[in-house]
Amino acid sequence: MTQVLSQRRVILGITGGIAAYKAAELVRTLVRAGAQVQVVMTKAAEAFVTPLTLQALSGREVKTELLDPSAEAGMGHIELARWAELLLIAPCTADTMARLAQGRGDDLLTTLALATPAPIHIAPAMNQQMWAQASTQANLTTLIQRGVTVHGPAAGEQACGDVGLGRMLEPEALHQAIEAALVSGALAGQHWLVTAGPTREAIDPVRYLSNHSSGKMGYAIARALRDAGASVTLVSGPTQLDCPDGVTRISVDSARDMLQACQGVNADGMIACAAVADFRPAEAAQTKLKKGEGDLNQITWVENPDIVATIAQSPARPRWVIGFAAETDNALANARAKLLRKGLDAVLANQVGDGVAFGTDDNHLHWVDASGDTDLGHAAKSVLADALVQRLITLTKD
Ligand code: C5P
Repeated sequence: MTQVLSQRRVILGITGGIAAYKAAELVRTLVRAGAQVQVVMTKAAEAFVTPLTLQALSGREVKTELLDPSAEAGMGHIELARWAELLLIAPCTADTMARLAQGRGDDLLTTLALATPAPIHIAPAMNQQMWAQASTQANLTTLIQRGVTVHGPAAGEQACGDVGLGRMLEPEALHQAIEAALVSGALAGQHWLVTAGPTREAIDPVRYLSNHSSGKMGYAIARALRDAGASVTLVSGPTQLDCPDGVTRISVDSARDMLQACQGVNADGMIACAAVADFRPAEAAQTKLKKGEGDLNQITWVENPDIVATIAQSPARPRWVIGFAAETDNALANARAKLLRKGLDAVLANQVGDGVAFGTDDNHLHWVDASGDTDLGHAAKSVLADALVQRLITLTKD
């Protein structure tokens, strides 16, 4: 079952109101949905609920201090502000609303609110009289005008005995709101598996068989899928590339490792972009092969499993399976043959050689499926990745 908020990065700010106890349940539901939740508490919040509780539920050390040298030595506040995809303050007191409206940075939470490029959501919770105050309402208007999204408050009986507007929305309602905010885009709710890079097949303890694949195309596709709202698992052979934020990477070496990693991923769609080594030595030598002693002739080569074909023909086949065909000649004809032989929904064909494709930043792709082929053009790999994702959006709507 796909986790809807898989790897999405949320800062949950908790401020000092009685509804802080509900924040514990909120952390639990977000973590269960797959989110990475970093809890930040104000001093007042600690009077209502302990950091230890929230640490246990979030699986991360709770942050409370702005000027804490040890916390800054780990992930500093600016880094944390950049890490977040969304900042939710729940419960958000009248005082915190006032400080946010004034642009103050007098504690860690308000500083993060100033420093983060991520959208800010608040779930106000306070006594109904405090909520109705002209000052609170003016702050509310300011915050909304500046793009803050406000959830609630709800009406009802309050902890203080009053009845009226001021109750924090229930954790489940906030969870739904955060999901709607984060999981948007045409591929929202879908999980895609991408293979990328070369594989390495051990010959002996110091040598391997590999190829020139840089992984750039596969990483660009993973990023484009993520931007379209999909959750993405990237199974990657050895590359020099950084994993795109929000993408889950599984690093592998050999073709057999890559197959095993792919088989462990329950995906709606797969894009096989890896340049898998076709052969491997039947057995890697235990000691370094020596020249001049005939060792080279003793290597027996065996064929590697075809990863994309294995997945496409397995009972647990993702709904859409797409491969690549890098050819030095007859790219389109070869792509059509691969489509049928491997049981794929589409093949991206590219003509390699003459400096195109391997290791370069640009590429020329054709989309080939049962109904024909479409030229996606010659462009930067990041641009082609976006064009490819547009095709996927059409494919997955059919
Ligand atoms: O057969 P060929 O290597 O040309 O097919 C290329 C396509 O098949 C690519 O999508 C590549 O990622 C995939 N492939 C694979 N496992 C292999 C060989 C290729 O998944 N062993």
